[in-house]
Amino acid sequence: MTTIDPQAFSAALLGWYDTHHRTLPWRVSPADRAAGMRPDPYRVWLSEIMLQQTTVAAVKAYFAKFTARWPRVEDIAAAPEAAVLAEWAGLGYYARARNLHACAIAVHETHGGRFPETAAALKALPGIGDYTSAAIAAIAFDEPAAVVDGNVERVVTRLAAIDTPLPRARPQIRAVVASLTPDRRPGDFAQGMMDLGATICTPTRPACVLCPVRPFCTATKTADAERFPVKPKKAAVLERRGAAFVALRPDGAVFLRKRPGSGMLGGMSEPPSSDWSARGDGALGPDAAPFPADWRRVGEVEHGFTHFRLTLEVWRADHVGDPPIEGWWSAPGEIAGEALPTLMRKVLRAAGIGPAGATKPARRTRKPAS
Ligand code: ADE
Repeated sequence: MTTIDPQAFSAALLGWYDTHHRTLPWRVSPADRAAGMRPDPYRVWLSEIMLQQTTVAAVKAYFAKFTARWPRVEDIAAAPEAAVLAEWAGLGYYARARNLHACAIAVHETHGGRFPETAAALKALPGIGDYTSAAIAAIAFDEPAAVVDGNVERVVTRLAAIDTPLPRARPQIRAVVASLTPDRRPGDFAQGMMDLGATICTPTRPACVLCPVRPFCTATKTADAERFPVKPKKAAVLERRGAAFVALRPDGAVFLRKRPGSGMLGGMSEPPSSDWSARGDGALGPDAAPFPADWRRVGEVEHGFTHFRLTLEVWRADHVGDPPIEGWWSAPGEIAGEALPTLMRKVLRAAGIGPAGATKPARRTRKPAS
């Protein structure tokens, strides 16, 4: 355990946070907080779900869209899941969007529209784990919970020069954070640690000379902060291959279907694609197509998932009649509003259909199952 004096440490961190905090749309500034303003738990929850493994810069536009369309938790609870998935398209990790919706419904139906106020009770809700429950409890409800995200892991492994590789170091990191977290302003403390990691204690070339907690840091004394956190040895990247089939009607509409609710990109829309095989010997040509058409190979796209890298061959057929599988035709003006993950937007672009980057709500014409 470290020998850091918790009072001196949090005084230094909070003093720095008071003047150097990032202004973010879900935050209440320290000055407003001191004047009695409280963060809206709905906005804190929404931002924390979005920020799991995604950057602040990427989240801002999504946060603005979600809160404009659904200003309160009961609004998102009342929305169809498909609308939530369509707004989420491009953020990745789609199971999270389904859990977000399920959580809003649970808060609305079983908690009268109010988020529970303790980390333990928050953790019982869909999509809320150790990190998110602690972050919401600290930021929205002033519970002195130990909040540990990737930024905080980096700060703490450097402070205490923790040599154990991740993820084995996590219990030790959590113990250090718990020992430093103050009873007063635990939410600002947590956000201060995150901001320190994002702006000063960066992965490479940390700005140690500007750091408010430099006197407490072991790694800066030996000038090897960049060595921390120690990473485990990298496993080889797994490769998978598959094929996607973009069928077009003479009016330019594209045939889409919904992926199964569980599994990768569950519940999202796609031009029909084959299984993604790790063996590399699966059928990737017209044999793998979900229905016969005049398929032409038009390119391939690559996409990185957390645990593997996927290459999809892209096939296109024009002048296709109604296919004998479930799905719908999406007209050119409707494609932007579909719940298409980034991978599938890349597929459409490779097939010459685009730009498919923007999202806007659109009505769709559903083809009945045949
Ligand atoms: N990353 C995750 N949660 C955050 C927050 N509340 N502020 C800044 N960065 C974050």
